[in-house]
Amino acid sequence: MGKTVLQIKNLSKRVGKKTIVQNINFDVYEGEVFGLLGPNGAGKTTIIRSIVSLISRSSGTVLINGMDVSIDFKKTIAEVGAIIENPEFYMYMSGLENLKQFARMSRKDISNETIQEIVDKVKLTNAINQKVKTYSLGMRQRLGLAQALIHKPSILILDEPTNGLDPQGMAEFRDIIREVSSQGTAVLISSHLLGEIQQITDRFAIIEKGQLTHIETMSDVMEDSHGKYVLKVSDVKKAIELLGSKEFIAIELDDNYLEVAINEPQIPEIIRLLIESVDIYSIVAKTGSLEDRFLELTEGGAL
Ligand SMILES: Nc1ncnc2c1ncn2[C@@H]1O[C@H](COP(=O)(O)OP(=O)(O)OP(=O)(O)O)[C@@H](O)[C@H]1O
Ligand SMILES: [Mg+2]
Repeated sequence: MGKTVLQIKNLSKRVGKKTIVQNINFDVYEGEVFGLLGPNGAGKTTIIRSIVSLISRSSGTVLINGMDVSIDFKKTIAEVGAIIENPEFYMYMSGLENLKQFARMSRKDISNETIQEIVDKVKLTNAINQKVKTYSLGMRQRLGLAQALIHKPSILILDEPTNGLDPQGMAEFRDIIREVSSQGTAVLISSHLLGEIQQITDRFAIIEKGQLTHIETMSDVMEDSHGKYVLKVSDVKKAIELLGSKEFIAIELDDNYLEVAINEPQIPEIIRLLIESVDIYSIVAKTGSLEDRFLELTEGGAL
């Protein structure tokens, strides 16, 4: 575990009498990608906006590299790169001119070499002298990333960054995020796309109705399904009965599939057990899915 870059302590946000988020606590470490997951209206954007002080906090503390943002906002926010809404650009300027303009506004000195390095990292090298109005959505998102990364922040904060991107755009975005985090930058990312979060995060928190209900590591979610196989058979009920007679724990998934708790060396044994009475079409190791885990944790809560 790397050092703690972001600490959220007892964060609450009330608007009038309404509590939008309540008593949120979590940390994000150097080099990790931390996901905020939750249904529409759960409070993800509110949490993110109050971290970067786009909205005020009703109570609670936000520390970046151990420094309280409300004590030295400028110094702490200089360690944050963020894409909160769609990033705004000067459409008639090139991507490079936009980045240079942005660099001039930064508190840190940003060299042309650094800008070029970031441009390469976000894979805009060939398009960086084109006007932004000619960019696709995916290219604009990557330029937004460049803008968020240009001052080499300790943490990158992204609210639903892949909204509207096609599968290839999402994959490119994931690759960049992975590279950024592997170089030590902490990443906080919100999404309601479970597949996206599954592929990219190391840990995640679930936000429901303004409260943080769970924090888990993705490796735990994946390991949870070790020792389970899914079988496609001609007669699920009969198969479960036979498996049960030998003390195997099996459950019906639907009319064609069942899940049984076994390890690979036991596969021949269950085949021998079933083959006289039931046709077996496939036996596949169960892979963990964030979607399954999310549904378990939220008792079927919709995203
Ligand atoms: N300024 C405000 N005044 C009143 N209610 C608000 C305000 N800002 C947000 N809310 C409410 O707080 C709740 C949380 O909103 P928020 O945008 O943080 O959710 P979210 O998890 O980001 O949702 P989504 O997945 O749709 O982006 C919503 O019910 C929203 O309507
Ligand atoms: Mg939101």
